[in-house]
Amino acid sequence: MIKKIAILTSGGDAPGMNCAIRSVTRFAAYKKLDIAGISRGFGGLIDGEIQDLSSRSVSNIISRGGTILKTARSKEFLEKKFREKAYQNLIQNKIDALIIIGGNGSFKGASVFNQEFNFPVVGIPGTIDNDVSGTQRTLGFDTAVNTAMDVIDKIKDTATSMDRIFFIEVMGRSSGFIAAYSALAGGAEDIIIPTKAPDVAEIVRKIEQGRIKGKRSWIIIVAEGVGETSVLVEKFGQFISDVRVTVIGHIQRGGSPSAFDRFLGAVMGKVAVEALLDNKTQHAIGWVNDQAIVYPLKDAVQSRKEDLTYLHEMIHILT
Ligand code: F6P
Repeated sequence: MIKKIAILTSGGDAPGMNCAIRSVTRFAAYKKLDIAGISRGFGGLIDGEIQDLSSRSVSNIISRGGTILKTARSKEFLEKKFREKAYQNLIQNKIDALIIIGGNGSFKGASVFNQEFNFPVVGIPGTIDNDVSGTQRTLGFDTAVNTAMDVIDKIKDTATSMDRIFFIEVMGRSSGFIAAYSALAGGAEDIIIPTKAPDVAEIVRKIEQGRIKGKRSWIIIVAEGVGETSVLVEKFGQFISDVRVTVIGHIQRGGSPSAFDRFLGAVMGKVAVEALLDNKTQHAIGWVNDQAIVYPLKDAVQSRKEDLTYLHEMIHILT
């Protein structure tokens, strides 16, 4: 029987993680369960950085980016002897189940831990990259897309004023979700994403044709997973003049979560606690067709592969 749940955040922080922490804590309290927070992800679990949480400990965090529990990418957790230490800490603190908020790397660690010690684990997908398999949305993605869109809006002002070509690099690890969604939302002219090698000559031809027709500025969103954006842009610089590069970087990770990420955090947190009480002890929470789902953790540990060609085509058509 589950009486006490612990929660941790792992990997890159994402806006909305605090909303999920709040929801887990308050829903667990509503269900008369004890709840503990673990600091610094798996690293804090290994070092025993565990403290009790109450409904009051999560007051006023719904609008805050980052994670109040802190997060880290733990190399130690890859080693069995440290996972054993983590397990002993859970037992000592009378913890019966673990909720992990993170991306597919964190889910991999959680899955190994679950199998090794038969310890109940539920994962909530939290990463701006939106690249966890089995879910259409991860916490933080919507906010990151809004941040990138704001940057596109601002760059557009200067690009149109000075008739310039801009390349804007966005995050996303090896996925193109932030690039494709922010480009469509921001009215950018093109994207370069890891799944499709860019046809430099074709993009240059379009820019030149556009210039002839009077379209004198151009914004291309580049996903970081493509490689060195500066090297890529040098190739374009050989053919076109007045090219500039903006790398948005970690700004995409911060800021107050969007309404959608707050909503997602609230729903996923509650469903994660329910899943554990329902004896779903090696599972992940997903968001599919506007509904929360509970599915096997083993199906969530891969990177999500989605063909973004339809968005790419739409971006071209709407240019
Ligand atoms: O996974 C989230 C993410 O922000 C990626 O988009 C990016 O590649 C990476 O983390 C950056 O990691 P770090 O914060 O360790 O520099």
